Amino acid sequence: MEIVKDYDLSELNTFGIKAKARFFVEIKNELDFNELLKTREYKDNQKLFLGGGSNVLFTKDFEGIVILNKLKGIEIIREDSNNVLVKAQSGEKWHDLVLFAVKKEYWGIENLSLVPGTVGAAPVQNIGAYGVELKDTIESVEFFDLESGEKKNLSRDECKFGYRDSIFKNELKGKVFILAVTFKLSKIPNLNVTYKVLKDYLEKNKIEIQKVKDISDVVIAIRQSKLPDPKILGNAGSFFKNVYVSKKNLEKIKEKYPNVSFFEEAGVIKIPAGWLIEECGWKGKRLGNVGVHDKQALVLINYGGATGEEIKDLALQIIASVFDKFGLKLTPEVNLI
Ligand code: EPU
Repeated sequence: MEIVKDYDLSELNTFGIKAKARFFVEIKNELDFNELLKTREYKDNQKLFLGGGSNVLFTKDFEGIVILNKLKGIEIIREDSNNVLVKAQSGEKWHDLVLFAVKKEYWGIENLSLVPGTVGAAPVQNIGAYGVELKDTIESVEFFDLESGEKKNLSRDECKFGYRDSIFKNELKGKVFILAVTFKLSKIPNLNVTYKVLKDYLEKNKIEIQKVKDISDVVIAIRQSKLPDPKILGNAGSFFKNVYVSKKNLEKIKEKYPNVSFFEEAGVIKIPAGWLIEECGWKGKRLGNVGVHDKQALVLINYGGATGEEIKDLALQIIASVFDKFGLKLTPEVNLI
Protein backbone atom coordinates (compact mmCIF):
# COMPACT_ATOMS: atom_id res chain seq x y z
CA MET A 1 0.00 0.00 0.00
CA GLU A 2 1.42 3.33 -1.07
CA ILE A 3 0.03 6.80 -0.33
CA VAL A 4 0.65 9.21 -3.21
CA LYS A 5 0.48 13.02 -2.99
CA ASP A 6 -1.32 15.37 -5.40
CA TYR A 7 -2.87 12.63 -7.49
CA ASP A 8 -4.70 13.48 -10.74
CA LEU A 9 -8.27 12.12 -10.63
CA SER A 10 -9.32 12.77 -14.24
CA GLU A 11 -9.14 9.09 -15.18
CA LEU A 12 -11.05 8.12 -12.04
CA ASN A 13 -14.29 10.00 -12.67
CA THR A 14 -16.52 9.29 -15.66
CA PHE A 15 -17.19 13.01 -16.16
CA GLY A 16 -13.48 13.22 -16.97
CA ILE A 17 -13.10 16.33 -14.80
CA LYS A 18 -9.56 17.41 -13.95
CA ALA A 19 -9.20 17.50 -10.18
CA LYS A 20 -6.50 16.48 -7.75
CA ALA A 21 -6.51 14.57 -4.50
CA ARG A 22 -4.09 15.78 -1.81
CA PHE A 23 -3.50 12.13 -0.93
CA PHE A 24 -4.41 9.00 -2.86
CA VAL A 25 -4.25 5.29 -2.05
CA GLU A 26 -5.41 2.02 -3.64
CA ILE A 27 -6.82 -0.74 -1.46
CA LYS A 28 -6.30 -4.22 -2.93
CA ASN A 29 -7.08 -6.35 0.15
CA GLU A 30 -8.16 -6.08 3.76
CA LEU A 31 -4.55 -5.96 4.97
CA ASP A 32 -4.00 -2.78 2.94
CA PHE A 33 -7.03 -1.33 4.62
CA ASN A 34 -5.86 -2.23 8.13
CA GLU A 35 -2.49 -0.67 7.37
CA LEU A 36 -4.13 2.49 6.00
CA LEU A 37 -6.20 2.96 9.17
CA LYS A 38 -2.99 3.44 11.18
CA THR A 39 -1.48 6.17 8.98
CA ARG A 40 -1.43 9.92 9.76
CA GLU A 41 -2.68 10.72 6.23
CA TYR A 42 -5.80 8.69 6.95
CA LYS A 43 -6.36 9.83 10.53
CA ASP A 44 -5.84 13.55 9.93
CA ASN A 45 -7.75 14.01 6.70
CA GLN A 46 -11.19 14.04 5.21
CA LYS A 47 -11.83 10.78 3.34
CA LEU A 48 -13.42 10.01 0.01
CA PHE A 49 -14.00 6.38 -0.97
CA LEU A 50 -14.07 5.96 -4.72
CA GLY A 51 -15.26 3.02 -6.82
CA GLY A 52 -15.92 3.51 -10.53
CA GLY A 53 -16.21 7.29 -10.17
CA SER A 54 -19.48 7.18 -12.12
CA ASN A 55 -21.57 9.08 -9.62
CA VAL A 56 -19.34 11.96 -8.56
CA LEU A 57 -18.75 15.47 -9.79
CA PHE A 58 -15.52 17.11 -8.62
CA THR A 59 -16.17 20.84 -8.39
CA LYS A 60 -12.72 21.48 -6.93
CA ASP A 61 -9.57 19.64 -5.83
CA PHE A 62 -10.15 17.24 -2.95
CA GLU A 63 -8.10 18.37 0.03
CA GLY A 64 -8.23 15.01 1.82
CA ILE A 65 -7.42 11.38 1.04
CA VAL A 66 -9.07 9.50 -1.84
CA ILE A 67 -9.26 5.76 -1.21
CA LEU A 68 -9.71 3.74 -4.39
CA ASN A 69 -11.38 0.39 -3.90
CA LYS A 70 -9.66 -2.47 -5.76
CA LEU A 71 -11.03 -5.40 -3.72
CA LYS A 72 -11.70 -8.21 -6.22
CA GLY A 73 -13.38 -11.61 -6.27
CA ILE A 74 -16.74 -13.27 -6.97
CA GLU A 75 -17.70 -16.55 -5.29
CA ILE A 76 -20.70 -18.79 -4.83
CA ILE A 77 -21.23 -19.26 -1.12
CA ARG A 78 -24.35 -21.46 -1.06
CA GLU A 79 -26.82 -22.95 -3.50
CA ASP A 80 -29.80 -25.25 -3.76
CA SER A 81 -31.82 -26.32 -6.76
CA ASN A 82 -33.66 -22.99 -6.99
CA ASN A 83 -31.34 -20.28 -5.72
CA VAL A 84 -27.72 -19.33 -5.37
CA LEU A 85 -25.96 -16.92 -3.03
CA VAL A 86 -23.21 -15.02 -4.83
CA LYS A 87 -20.77 -12.90 -2.87
CA ALA A 88 -18.85 -10.19 -4.75
CA GLN A 89 -16.05 -8.03 -3.40
CA SER A 90 -16.86 -4.34 -3.46
CA GLY A 91 -14.17 -3.30 -5.96
CA GLU A 92 -15.51 -5.57 -8.71
CA LYS A 93 -17.04 -3.72 -11.65
CA TRP A 94 -20.83 -4.02 -11.45
CA HIS A 95 -21.15 -5.14 -15.07
CA ASP A 96 -18.55 -7.88 -14.52
CA LEU A 97 -20.82 -9.32 -11.84
CA VAL A 98 -23.75 -9.17 -14.30
CA LEU A 99 -21.61 -11.00 -16.90
CA PHE A 100 -20.78 -13.68 -14.31
CA ALA A 101 -24.52 -14.20 -13.67
CA VAL A 102 -25.28 -14.22 -17.40
CA LYS A 103 -22.66 -16.89 -18.02
CA LYS A 104 -23.91 -19.07 -15.17
CA GLU A 105 -27.57 -18.59 -16.18
CA TYR A 106 -28.52 -16.95 -12.86
CA TRP A 107 -31.55 -14.62 -13.01
CA GLY A 108 -32.06 -11.40 -11.09
CA ILE A 109 -29.61 -8.68 -12.10
CA GLU A 110 -29.72 -8.89 -15.91
CA ASN A 111 -31.94 -5.78 -16.18
CA LEU A 112 -29.09 -3.91 -14.48
CA SER A 113 -26.64 -4.73 -17.28
CA LEU A 114 -24.10 -2.03 -18.07
CA VAL A 115 -24.91 0.14 -15.04
CA PRO A 116 -21.55 1.82 -14.47
CA GLY A 117 -19.67 1.71 -11.18
CA THR A 118 -18.60 -0.92 -8.70
CA VAL A 119 -20.39 -3.58 -6.67
CA GLY A 120 -19.61 -1.66 -3.47
CA ALA A 121 -21.21 1.55 -4.73
CA ALA A 122 -24.35 -0.23 -5.92
CA PRO A 123 -26.09 -0.58 -2.53
CA VAL A 124 -25.24 2.99 -1.51
CA GLN A 125 -27.70 4.41 -4.00
CA ASN A 126 -29.72 1.24 -4.61
CA ILE A 127 -29.02 1.28 -8.35
CA GLY A 128 -32.03 0.68 -10.55
CA ALA A 129 -32.92 0.33 -14.22
CA TYR A 130 -35.59 -1.23 -16.43
CA GLY A 131 -37.94 -2.18 -13.60
CA VAL A 132 -35.36 -3.75 -11.29
CA GLU A 133 -33.57 -2.32 -8.28
CA LEU A 134 -30.59 -3.72 -6.47
CA LYS A 135 -32.72 -4.24 -3.36
CA ASP A 136 -34.73 -6.94 -5.21
CA THR A 137 -31.84 -9.41 -5.14
CA ILE A 138 -29.55 -8.27 -2.36
CA GLU A 139 -29.09 -10.57 0.64
CA SER A 140 -26.58 -8.66 2.78
CA VAL A 141 -23.81 -6.07 2.82
CA GLU A 142 -20.50 -6.58 4.66
CA PHE A 143 -18.55 -3.50 5.73
CA PHE A 144 -15.92 -2.04 8.03
CA ASP A 145 -17.31 0.25 10.68
CA LEU A 146 -14.73 3.06 10.52
CA GLU A 147 -15.49 4.23 14.05
CA SER A 148 -15.18 0.92 15.89
CA GLY A 149 -12.83 -0.80 13.41
CA GLU A 150 -15.15 -3.84 13.44
CA LYS A 151 -16.38 -5.85 10.49
CA LYS A 152 -20.19 -5.90 10.33
CA ASN A 153 -23.06 -7.18 8.23
CA LEU A 154 -26.42 -5.68 7.39
CA SER A 155 -29.34 -7.67 6.01
CA ARG A 156 -31.39 -6.28 3.15
CA ASP A 157 -34.07 -4.89 5.50
CA GLU A 158 -31.47 -3.22 7.69
CA CYS A 159 -30.08 -1.36 4.66
CA LYS A 160 -33.32 0.71 4.51
CA PHE A 161 -33.38 0.84 0.73
CA GLY A 162 -35.48 3.46 -1.06
CA TYR A 163 -35.47 5.04 -4.51
CA ARG A 164 -31.74 5.75 -5.10
CA ASP A 165 -31.37 5.70 -1.34
CA SER A 166 -30.13 3.56 1.56
CA ILE A 167 -28.78 3.73 5.11
CA PHE A 168 -25.32 4.28 3.55
CA LYS A 169 -26.45 7.69 2.23
CA ASN A 170 -27.97 8.63 5.58
CA GLU A 171 -27.14 7.31 9.11
CA LEU A 172 -23.99 5.53 7.92
CA LYS A 173 -22.75 8.20 5.51
CA GLY A 174 -18.97 8.49 5.74
CA LYS A 175 -18.88 5.92 8.56
CA VAL A 176 -18.31 2.67 6.66
CA PHE A 177 -16.19 1.05 4.01
CA ILE A 178 -18.22 -1.53 2.12
CA LEU A 179 -16.22 -4.75 1.66
CA ALA A 180 -18.57 -7.16 -0.10
CA VAL A 181 -22.16 -7.62 -1.19
CA THR A 182 -24.08 -10.92 -1.28
CA PHE A 183 -26.91 -11.50 -3.76
CA LYS A 184 -29.61 -14.13 -3.92
CA LEU A 185 -30.08 -15.04 -7.57
CA SER A 186 -32.49 -17.49 -9.14
CA LYS A 187 -31.61 -20.59 -11.14
CA ILE A 188 -35.19 -20.71 -12.36
CA PRO A 189 -36.13 -18.27 -15.13
CA ASN A 190 -37.50 -15.18 -13.47
CA LEU A 191 -38.26 -12.56 -16.09
CA ASN A 192 -39.02 -8.96 -15.31
CA VAL A 193 -40.18 -7.19 -18.45
CA THR A 194 -42.78 -4.87 -17.00
CA TYR A 195 -40.83 -1.67 -17.68
CA LYS A 196 -42.54 0.00 -20.64
CA VAL A 197 -39.41 0.87 -22.62
CA LEU A 198 -38.18 -2.73 -22.31
CA LYS A 199 -41.56 -4.29 -23.10
CA ASP A 200 -42.01 -2.09 -26.18
CA TYR A 201 -38.53 -2.96 -27.44
CA LEU A 202 -39.15 -6.71 -27.10
CA GLU A 203 -42.50 -6.45 -28.90
CA LYS A 204 -41.23 -4.20 -31.66
CA ASN A 205 -38.25 -6.43 -32.39
CA LYS A 206 -40.22 -9.67 -31.82
CA ILE A 207 -37.64 -10.97 -29.35
CA GLU A 208 -38.37 -14.18 -27.43
CA ILE A 209 -36.51 -14.40 -24.14
CA GLN A 210 -34.99 -17.75 -23.34
CA LYS A 211 -31.73 -17.11 -21.59
CA VAL A 212 -30.45 -14.54 -19.12
CA LYS A 213 -28.21 -13.25 -21.91
CA ASP A 214 -31.22 -12.40 -24.10
CA ILE A 215 -32.44 -9.80 -21.59
CA SER A 216 -28.93 -8.57 -20.87
CA ASP A 217 -28.31 -8.02 -24.61
CA VAL A 218 -31.56 -6.07 -25.03
CA VAL A 219 -30.83 -3.86 -22.00
CA ILE A 220 -27.33 -3.20 -23.35
CA ALA A 221 -28.77 -2.27 -26.77
CA ILE A 222 -31.32 0.14 -25.24
CA ARG A 223 -28.76 1.74 -22.94
CA GLN A 224 -26.23 2.17 -25.73
CA SER A 225 -28.84 3.88 -27.89
CA LYS A 226 -29.62 6.49 -25.21
CA LEU A 227 -26.72 6.84 -22.84
CA PRO A 228 -23.38 8.19 -24.00
CA ASP A 229 -20.22 6.15 -23.46
CA PRO A 230 -18.16 8.03 -20.84
CA LYS A 231 -14.98 7.04 -22.67
CA ILE A 232 -16.16 9.20 -25.56
CA LEU A 233 -18.29 11.85 -23.80
CA GLY A 234 -17.77 12.51 -20.10
CA ASN A 235 -20.98 11.94 -18.11
CA ALA A 236 -22.33 10.29 -14.96
CA GLY A 237 -25.58 8.73 -16.22
CA SER A 238 -28.71 10.32 -14.78
CA PHE A 239 -27.64 13.56 -13.16
CA PHE A 240 -30.96 14.08 -11.35
CA LYS A 241 -33.45 11.80 -9.63
CA ASN A 242 -36.95 11.44 -10.99
CA VAL A 243 -39.44 13.56 -9.06
CA TYR A 244 -42.13 12.38 -6.68
CA VAL A 245 -45.44 14.23 -6.99
CA SER A 246 -48.77 13.96 -5.20
CA LYS A 247 -51.87 12.87 -7.13
CA LYS A 248 -53.26 16.37 -6.69
CA ASN A 249 -50.14 17.99 -8.06
CA LEU A 250 -50.07 15.60 -11.02
CA GLU A 251 -53.68 16.52 -11.86
CA LYS A 252 -52.74 20.19 -11.78
CA ILE A 253 -49.77 19.61 -14.10
CA LYS A 254 -51.98 17.48 -16.40
CA GLU A 255 -54.39 20.41 -16.88
CA LYS A 256 -51.63 22.45 -18.46
CA TYR A 257 -49.58 19.60 -19.93
CA PRO A 258 -51.97 16.74 -20.85
CA ASN A 259 -49.06 14.76 -22.34
CA VAL A 260 -47.11 14.67 -19.04
CA SER A 261 -45.12 11.46 -18.65
CA PHE A 262 -45.41 9.71 -15.27
CA PHE A 263 -45.00 6.34 -13.51
CA GLU A 264 -47.11 4.95 -10.73
CA GLU A 265 -45.31 2.41 -8.54
CA ALA A 266 -46.35 1.07 -5.15
CA GLY A 267 -48.78 3.92 -4.64
CA VAL A 268 -46.33 6.71 -5.42
CA ILE A 269 -46.15 8.81 -8.57
CA LYS A 270 -42.91 9.86 -10.22
CA ILE A 271 -42.44 12.22 -13.14
CA PRO A 272 -39.31 11.47 -15.19
CA ALA A 273 -36.87 14.33 -14.65
CA GLY A 274 -35.85 13.80 -18.30
CA TRP A 275 -39.34 14.81 -19.42
CA LEU A 276 -39.34 17.96 -17.25
CA ILE A 277 -35.92 18.99 -18.55
CA GLU A 278 -36.90 18.32 -22.16
CA GLU A 279 -40.10 20.38 -21.75
CA CYS A 280 -37.95 23.28 -20.57
CA GLY A 281 -36.06 23.13 -23.87
CA TRP A 282 -32.75 21.82 -22.56
CA LYS A 283 -32.45 18.57 -24.48
CA GLY A 284 -29.46 18.67 -26.83
CA LYS A 285 -28.49 22.19 -25.71
CA ARG A 286 -24.80 23.00 -25.43
CA LEU A 287 -23.22 25.82 -23.44
CA GLY A 288 -19.52 25.97 -24.16
CA ASN A 289 -17.84 22.83 -22.85
CA VAL A 290 -20.96 21.37 -21.25
CA GLY A 291 -24.42 20.34 -22.37
CA VAL A 292 -27.52 18.19 -22.09
CA HIS A 293 -27.48 14.90 -24.00
CA ASP A 294 -29.64 14.90 -27.14
CA LYS A 295 -31.05 11.40 -26.57
CA GLN A 296 -31.72 11.52 -22.80
CA ALA A 297 -32.18 14.89 -21.14
CA LEU A 298 -31.28 13.50 -17.71
CA VAL A 299 -27.65 13.17 -18.73
CA LEU A 300 -25.25 16.13 -18.52
CA ILE A 301 -22.14 16.03 -20.65
CA ASN A 302 -18.58 17.26 -20.57
CA TYR A 303 -17.73 17.85 -24.23
CA GLY A 304 -14.07 18.11 -23.23
CA GLY A 305 -12.14 20.41 -20.98
CA ALA A 306 -15.10 21.33 -18.75
CA THR A 307 -14.62 22.09 -15.09
CA GLY A 308 -16.85 20.66 -12.40
CA GLU A 309 -18.07 24.18 -11.72
CA GLU A 310 -19.32 24.50 -15.32
CA ILE A 311 -21.34 21.28 -14.99
CA LYS A 312 -22.66 22.42 -11.62
CA ASP A 313 -23.63 25.77 -13.11
CA LEU A 314 -25.56 24.07 -15.90
CA ALA A 315 -27.29 21.84 -13.32
CA LEU A 316 -28.32 24.91 -11.30
CA GLN A 317 -29.75 26.60 -14.39
CA ILE A 318 -31.76 23.46 -15.19
CA ILE A 319 -33.04 23.21 -11.61
CA ALA A 320 -34.14 26.86 -11.75
CA SER A 321 -35.96 26.55 -15.06
CA VAL A 322 -37.80 23.34 -14.07
CA PHE A 323 -38.83 25.05 -10.83
CA ASP A 324 -40.05 28.15 -12.69
CA LYS A 325 -42.13 26.15 -15.15
CA PHE A 326 -43.49 23.33 -12.98
CA GLY A 327 -42.89 24.37 -9.37
CA LEU A 328 -40.98 21.06 -8.91
CA LYS A 329 -37.53 20.81 -7.40
CA LEU A 330 -34.99 18.54 -9.09
CA THR A 331 -32.40 16.91 -6.84
CA PRO A 332 -29.06 15.61 -8.11
CA GLU A 333 -28.44 11.88 -8.03
CA VAL A 334 -24.72 12.54 -8.51
CA ASN A 335 -22.60 13.41 -5.45
CA LEU A 336 -21.09 16.88 -5.69
CA ILE A 337 -17.65 17.03 -4.12
N1 EPU B 1 -38.16 11.16 -20.98
C1 EPU B 1 -38.35 12.28 -21.78
N2 EPU B 1 -37.26 12.92 -22.28
C2 EPU B 1 -36.00 12.48 -22.07
C3 EPU B 1 -35.80 11.35 -21.24
C4 EPU B 1 -36.91 10.71 -20.71
O1 EPU B 1 -39.48 12.71 -22.01
O2 EPU B 1 -35.06 13.12 -22.57
C5 EPU B 1 -39.36 10.46 -20.43
C6 EPU B 1 -40.05 9.59 -21.46
O3 EPU B 1 -41.43 9.63 -21.19
C7 EPU B 1 -39.55 8.19 -21.15
C8 EPU B 1 -39.40 8.26 -19.64
O4 EPU B 1 -38.98 9.60 -19.40
O5 EPU B 1 -40.43 7.18 -21.53
C9 EPU B 1 -38.43 7.27 -19.06
O6 EPU B 1 -37.16 7.41 -19.66
P1 EPU B 1 -36.02 6.31 -19.44
O7 EPU B 1 -36.57 4.94 -19.67
O8 EPU B 1 -34.84 6.72 -20.22
O9 EPU B 1 -35.76 6.38 -17.88
P2 EPU B 1 -35.52 7.55 -16.84
O10 EPU B 1 -36.63 7.54 -15.87
O11 EPU B 1 -35.21 8.82 -17.52
C10 EPU B 1 -34.32 5.96 -15.14
C11 EPU B 1 -33.04 5.90 -14.37
C12 EPU B 1 -31.89 5.45 -15.29
C13 EPU B 1 -32.25 4.10 -15.88
C14 EPU B 1 -33.55 4.25 -16.65
C15 EPU B 1 -34.04 2.95 -17.23
C16 EPU B 1 -33.27 7.58 -12.65
C17 EPU B 1 -32.79 8.90 -12.13
N3 EPU B 1 -32.73 7.19 -13.80
O12 EPU B 1 -34.20 7.02 -16.09
O13 EPU B 1 -30.74 5.28 -14.46
O14 EPU B 1 -31.23 3.62 -16.73
O15 EPU B 1 -34.59 4.73 -15.73
O16 EPU B 1 -34.63 2.17 -16.26
O17 EPU B 1 -34.08 6.94 -11.99
C18 EPU B 1 -28.75 6.30 -13.67
O18 EPU B 1 -29.25 6.20 -12.56
O19 EPU B 1 -27.61 6.81 -13.88
C19 EPU B 1 -29.54 5.84 -14.82
C20 EPU B 1 -29.11 5.99 -16.07
